[in-house]
Amino acid sequence: MRQERGAQGKVIGGMHESIRDLLKPSRRSEVAPFMVMDVMAAAARIEAAGGRVVHMEVGQPAAPAPAAARRAAMAALEKGDIGYTHALGVASLRARIARHYQDAYGAAVPPDRIVVTTGSSAGFILAFLAILDPGDRVAVASPGYPPYRHILTALGCEPAPIEITERTRYAMTVENVLAAHRERPLKAVLVASPANPTGTMMPREDLRKLIEACEGEGIRFISDEIYHGLDYAFAAETALKLSDRAIVINSFSKYFCMTGWRIGWMVLPEALVRSVERLQQNIAISVPALSQVAAEAAFDGRGEMEAVKHGYEANRRLLLEGLPGAGLERFLPVDGAFYLYADISRFSNDSLDFAKRMLAEAGVAATPGIDFDPVNGHKFLRFCYAGSTPDMREAVERIGHWLRRY
Ligand SMILES: Cc1ncc(COP(=O)(O)O)c(C=O)c1O
Repeated sequence: MRQERGAQGKVIGGMHESIRDLLKPSRRSEVAPFMVMDVMAAAARIEAAGGRVVHMEVGQPAAPAPAAARRAAMAALEKGDIGYTHALGVASLRARIARHYQDAYGAAVPPDRIVVTTGSSAGFILAFLAILDPGDRVAVASPGYPPYRHILTALGCEPAPIEITERTRYAMTVENVLAAHRERPLKAVLVASPANPTGTMMPREDLRKLIEACEGEGIRFISDEIYHGLDYAFAAETALKLSDRAIVINSFSKYFCMTGWRIGWMVLPEALVRSVERLQQNIAISVPALSQVAAEAAFDGRGEMEAVKHGYEANRRLLLEGLPGAGLERFLPVDGAFYLYADISRFSNDSLDFAKRMLAEAGVAATPGIDFDPVNGHKFLRFCYAGSTPDMREAVERIGHWLRRY
């Protein structure tokens, strides 16, 4: 390659420095990749070659959206009237979500505190933009859902990982959050119960104490309630019953099996609604109208979704009974969502390598813990049990057979 040397700058590796700058991504975009993608790609290669893989790596339901939701979407498509909606969401959907709080928790929530979002993922972005300034610190559990950390970093904020351990039943406590606050002030704390990747939940009293302690110190409480409805050990409590100031983020993705429809919602303190409305108007204009129509009808499909949940319960029992016999006897409390977080340190200290070998040699795909916890995740694997019960049975048999020869 001919190398040029101009007035504006140096030539580096055949490319002019100023042109290289034009192609350079921002520092804030340097977020970590999802290691599970490697496992998924390897699984796809095995399947393309005619092999069999039991999928327990992706955190999404195998079942489709409720029939009522799909029917409503088809009728709306037929009519063709699909335009922008109000930035905060269609009024009838916001009213239906408000009724859900009354039905499910006995909580009175006015529809005008509800904002429809493009999945809970967009809810986080809107909530963070509405309450945080660059440099603000937010406590998140470690292990925890990686996008919490990555979205915060991309917005110029600082995630403050709180290590959760057996001693605290794998939940954040008043003590460890306030200790982090004393180190350097926190602006917010973000809690999910049930959580991903652990599937662990916080009892109501612990949640209440944590919210009270945080708000007493001026720390905002954000509650990710995306796995509500999928609770087996005890009933999940909404933060809305414990505080009027908490920000609640939820989604149709998990309980209602609507991941690809990209629709969720937030419940905000009244004082934040207008800020989020302005943000949503500018960032997204509105949430897809078709998904809003489907989401409203999804509430009529609760019977169908309860049957799906019974399937998860059967899968959970099967894993709790079968995995110890297969060699994985240590896992975190399996309270809710559809995850089991297993300690594999008896076999390996490299969860990515273990996941790759388990896939290649046993035909079972799971997610390495390092995706969720850069410190201790090398000792854990996350199993998603949202698939079919025969698949889960087959996975336990395959893992047992494999580990006996490991
Ligand atoms: C804990 C948690 N929160 C939020 C999300 C984002 O989901 P969505 O944007 O589909 O609502 C996920 C997805 O897996 C999750 O596990």
